[in-house]
Amino acid sequence: MKKRYQYITCIFILYALVVVAQLFISCNESAKADSNNSNTSAGFVIDTAKIPHDQFGEAVKYGRQLMLHTAYYIGPDGINEKRYAGNKMNCTNCHQDAGTKPYAFNLVTTFRNYPQYRAREGRVSSLAERVNNCITRPLLGKPLPLDSKEMIAIMSYLKWLSDSSYVNNNAKGLKNIEIPLPDIAASSERGAQLYTTNCARCHGASGEGQLRYDKVTYAYPPLWGLNAYQPGSSMHRIVKMAQWLVPNMPYDKATHDKPFLTPAQALDLAAFINDDRIHQRPFVKDFQYPNYGEKPIDYDRGPFNDPFSDTQHKYGPFKPIIAYWAGKGFKPTY
Ligand code: HEC
Ligand code: HEC
Repeated sequence: MKKRYQYITCIFILYALVVVAQLFISCNESAKADSNNSNTSAGFVIDTAKIPHDQFGEAVKYGRQLMLHTAYYIGPDGINEKRYAGNKMNCTNCHQDAGTKPYAFNLVTTFRNYPQYRAREGRVSSLAERVNNCITRPLLGKPLPLDSKEMIAIMSYLKWLSDSSYVNNNAKGLKNIEIPLPDIAASSERGAQLYTTNCARCHGASGEGQLRYDKVTYAYPPLWGLNAYQPGSSMHRIVKMAQWLVPNMPYDKATHDKPFLTPAQALDLAAFINDDRIHQRPFVKDFQYPNYGEKPIDYDRGPFNDPFSDTQHKYGPFKPIIAYWAGKGFKPTY
């Protein structure tokens, strides 16, 4: 009888040990998933624990930090001697999770796609030049010298991202979400109302954002005003911004598989935020696109090689513009 009792106790203890061990393993795994920033739902995994422990790895890590904490390093109040950026925004404000978040202007395979022809400049550009486009336009900065520690770090990070794991070029989340375009034009007035209800609590009633406690960067980045992105940035284009808003904003409510805004609402919000008749932005002179016919349909500065007005290019309706170009055998970009 006693033996049997000991036997049952033994089995029970063994069972308890197995349960505890399993709990321990699963806790550990979820902690690992958090720290390693996996994006398995999108069809690719970026594991920052695999950044090599050598000089190249150091450059990759610095590049990643630069994207996450741009203002802390190279912003107007940054710790570096060279304060390349002209405002206090960070790359990750748009390329979220340092370019690894799906559907947030993802940069995971970017390194594979350059040099490439850029309609904007009307010539083939290198990836370093493309990085400098974002330093100068959204961050109002001065171009990083090609041999600077910062440019080499950002390039190393982008290279590591595209090599770091097997990322299929067709993986979900690398390209922007496609949104259906409505038959009517986007409306800045409707957008203003949506903004007050859904966005002002973080980005401020006047779109000015909220600086972080130390004032080096933002807790909530600005959407317009003299400290926000330039009108020459792609974020200033309404369809492009709406493709980003649907999966990503409001920050605490939207995910790509459970968006909060409808595409039409996102277009109205983008129309309001980017309405230069009511909102100021930093002044720029060069709007480029030397070949007018290559302008994206939602670019707002003429001249265009089609019969549509600047206003229709800015706010839509976009379908007639697409149909016009399709009739000529072209697939317009937006
Ligand atoms: C205000 C938003 C914003 C900020 C801030 C920003 N970018 Fe961008 N970036 C964009 C947009 C929009 C695009 C174009 C995306 C598209 O066409 O889908 C882009 C494109 C790029 C590309 C080209 C991607 C490709 O695959 O062709 C690179 C590289 C890039 N950005 C790097 C950076 C870096 C580095 C920083 C920080 C120094 C930065 N960006 C800051 C909005 C931003
Ligand atoms: C809970 C706070 C919060 C709310 C609400 C919110 N955002 Fe944001 N938004 C953020 C944060 C934080 C970022 C920066 C994201 C990052 O760094 O990962 C951001 C970034 C952005 C950006 C890109 C960066 C820039 O400054 O240009 C845009 C555009 C934007 N939000 C628009 C909106 C719109 C439109 C709404 C309303 C539908 C909205 N947001 C609601 C917190 C918020």
